[in-house]
Amino acid sequence: MPNVLVLPGDGIGKEITPEAVKVLEAVLKGRSTSLNFEYGLIGGAAIDEVGKALPDATLAAAQAADAILLGAVGGPKWEILPAQERPELGGLLKIRKALSLYANIRPVKMSPMLVDASTLRPEVVKDVDLVVLRELTGGLYFGEKGRKTNPTSAYDILIYTEEEIRRIVELGFQMAVKRTGRLCSVDKANVLESSRLWREITVEIAKDYPSVDLTHMYVDNAAMQLVLRPNQFDVIVTENMFGDILTDLASMLGGSIGLVPSASLNGKKGLYEPSHGSAPDIAGKNIANPLATILSGALMLRYSFDLEEEAQMIEQAVEAVLAEGYRTPDLAKPGDKVLGTREMGNAIVEALGRN
Ligand code: IPM
Ligand code: MG
Repeated sequence: MPNVLVLPGDGIGKEITPEAVKVLEAVLKGRSTSLNFEYGLIGGAAIDEVGKALPDATLAAAQAADAILLGAVGGPKWEILPAQERPELGGLLKIRKALSLYANIRPVKMSPMLVDASTLRPEVVKDVDLVVLRELTGGLYFGEKGRKTNPTSAYDILIYTEEEIRRIVELGFQMAVKRTGRLCSVDKANVLESSRLWREITVEIAKDYPSVDLTHMYVDNAAMQLVLRPNQFDVIVTENMFGDILTDLASMLGGSIGLVPSASLNGKKGLYEPSHGSAPDIAGKNIANPLATILSGALMLRYSFDLEEEAQMIEQAVEAVLAEGYRTPDLAKPGDKVLGTREMGNAIVEALGRN
């Protein structure tokens, strides 16, 4: 039986991961595959318990697991620590790097029921269906960094090897082939040398994918185009930092960041987490939206376990519950039926039972 390591982490992570586990168990009930869930510590919770954001036991369990489901890490309590020890760098970035999870997939799809939840005009966002493929273990995040004196200065080096670029861009082409055949590579080749290498390699790989319509866009323009005419995009492939920024921006095209799941992959091995953070301000109140985590569970079934049918069952159950007018507070408009975190999880389980 495949093992899934659940790392709830901090803040609302502790409330949303149980809902995703509940939904995964429900969708697999009576089917050929079942999953064995194990639990571990990461982030602030791990610092408090064992003094380290990524304990050795967690890393070992993650290496042994078939997939990882993560809630979120971080909170004001740990912000006083040196940056490298904090939940974000010492926990999340470390596990991504240690497991070489270089491919971060963040799909953004506007659900017809949520068109009004977006701050953008309905006609702009109504058909949004795109995927951002973000390089996750290179670039500015992991290049050499440091401080100097005389004058006091700080630096972060943006470095990519050919191999790092090649593997993520290849995946972008493969995804584009499976979708509508459009790939937009986002870079800053007018300024950055690393982007010029990125573009050269992308152009070279394109020769192997004649059916893919490849475009290149500078990242500043891409940010503008995403809000101007988001429907022009299908698959976007980009480096780590640009992807971090563009995925927060793109999440709003789907109504709420509370709905954007993510998969961080190295082949079949994957870490699945919502794209949002630990939201300490609303933690412990049973009001957090569990849908991004539940949808991350669907991505786990799809990418780590090849259970496409079951993945779609979860995605359809989420659509069905939203269509019935149920919302967590982050999405609610006057007249909507507001559900808490647990109640939303239960509603998804019930909807699965109806299909
Ligand atoms: C994300 C987050 C992380 C990142 C932070 C928490 C380090 O913003 O997953 O997008 O920058 O990658
Ligand atoms: Mg981010």
